[in-house]
Amino acid sequence: MRHGKEYPYLETVFLEVKALSQELESHLTKEENILFPYIRQLVIAQARGQKVLKPPFGTVNNPIQMMESEHTDAGDSFSHIRTLTGDLVPPEAACTSWRVLYAQLLEFEADLHTHIHLENNLLFPRAIQLELETA
Ligand SMILES: [Fe+2]
Repeated sequence: MRHGKEYPYLETVFLEVKALSQELESHLTKEENILFPYIRQLVIAQARGQKVLKPPFGTVNNPIQMMESEHTDAGDSFSHIRTLTGDLVPPEAACTSWRVLYAQLLEFEADLHTHIHLENNLLFPRAIQLELETA
């Protein structure tokens, strides 16, 4: 890695970003393959006035708790990245790629916060309510 010798914290940032990306990929896969299809079933059932069979995971609260816990972990990873990088402010000596990396990490963080807000504050409470109404 360029700059790794002069700025050893960059190696830690790299490892943290890599781990966060892998965790989020797994998180999104679980949402797309397990939680969202079930929420879709709830929406359809409610629209048709039908009941939904108990899912293999028991209740929607279980995957939601897991997703919320993963959201917290992802937020913690970003806090660590911010601590390591002085709030993602590139040093004077930073080259263009370094500046682009920090700018993209800031965008990534903003997208992650939107994702967490939409799910924790809007989708998940609505899904819990829908399940109660269609059980
Ligand atoms: Fe999520």
